[in-house]
Amino acid sequence: MTEIKVVKKDGVGIMPPEEHLGFGEHFTDHMFIMDYDPQNGWNNPRIAPYNEFCVFPAAMVLHYGQAIFEGIKAFRTADDRVVVFRPQDYLERFNRSADALCIPRIDVDVVAEGLKKVIEIDKKWVPSTVGTALYIRPLIIATDPYVGVKVSDTYKLFIILSPVGAYYAAGFDPVSIKVEDKYVRATLGGLGEAKTPANYAMSLKAQVEAKKEGFAQVLWLDAVERKYVEEVGTMNIFFKINGEIITPELVGSILGGMTRRTVLELAKSWGLKVSERRISIDEIFAAHEQGQLEEVFGTGTAAVISPVGELSWKGKKIIINNNKTGEFAQKLFDTVTGIQYGTVEDTFGWVEEVTKL
Ligand code: COI
Repeated sequence: MTEIKVVKKDGVGIMPPEEHLGFGEHFTDHMFIMDYDPQNGWNNPRIAPYNEFCVFPAAMVLHYGQAIFEGIKAFRTADDRVVVFRPQDYLERFNRSADALCIPRIDVDVVAEGLKKVIEIDKKWVPSTVGTALYIRPLIIATDPYVGVKVSDTYKLFIILSPVGAYYAAGFDPVSIKVEDKYVRATLGGLGEAKTPANYAMSLKAQVEAKKEGFAQVLWLDAVERKYVEEVGTMNIFFKINGEIITPELVGSILGGMTRRTVLELAKSWGLKVSERRISIDEIFAAHEQGQLEEVFGTGTAAVISPVGELSWKGKKIIINNNKTGEFAQKLFDTVTGIQYGTVEDTFGWVEEVTKL
């Protein structure tokens, strides 16, 4: 057990009515913090009131983007417990992102303990309506005040908490997606599989252009051939073609999503044909032409399971499943959220109880 100092202050944040939560707009009363320096390693784990913090204008993260983050969710179950979904797995991915950005690895057990403690303190903030959750955002930033380019020696870790509703305004209704043919997100040998701000900065221009054209998100193709499907702005992508469940394999430029992993594990346990493989955009449009493209949906912690009703590529549009949520996406959504809200048995051991209300 690590000693975690706690300074409490209630009433820092304001909880809106649950139907007006939006996504990532409101923050709870407290946050978890740790520091890193080469002499002490990760040290001084503490919980403090949610507030602004100080770094020098020269802090390296501000100049060169040496930072990583995670997105995890906690839920209030039907029987009034607070549970977190796969915290250990997310924090292990945090460490893989740390490796990619030359950031010192965390002790997963210590950070998991801090995460659970801050949730316990702010447990009244965990919303209860189906479709809502407490979004947990761990973040590490490089803090050396230095304007040359190098790996920082010092870092800060934060975990902030945000009660959230659906990520997309459309909720669980199918979204329309533009297949991006001008910009690319990540290249092989780059940072694509790390959860780092650079990947999201890369996506902004394409996202703005797609929004203007009426799309919710963009679907990225590989950066070399502009042919193979990679992922959507904030989700991994799945296709159901002639009964086969297909998602792009993790080649290095795609984020290994935790919901992606959850869906793969569930689909395999249901005995379905599941393939992680390269899939070209031509194959998808051809499958649609042959009447074999049954469903398309995205997966993400924020987006959960998000059906795709329309794909548009170089001006050619296809409508999937009559722009309706497919049976498989619905079953996944019901199962994943059921496990999270405690109404479906968690035979995989994915949820960890934090506290009772
Ligand atoms: C998540 O799904 O948790 C993400 O990190 C996506 C986005 C909100 C950045």
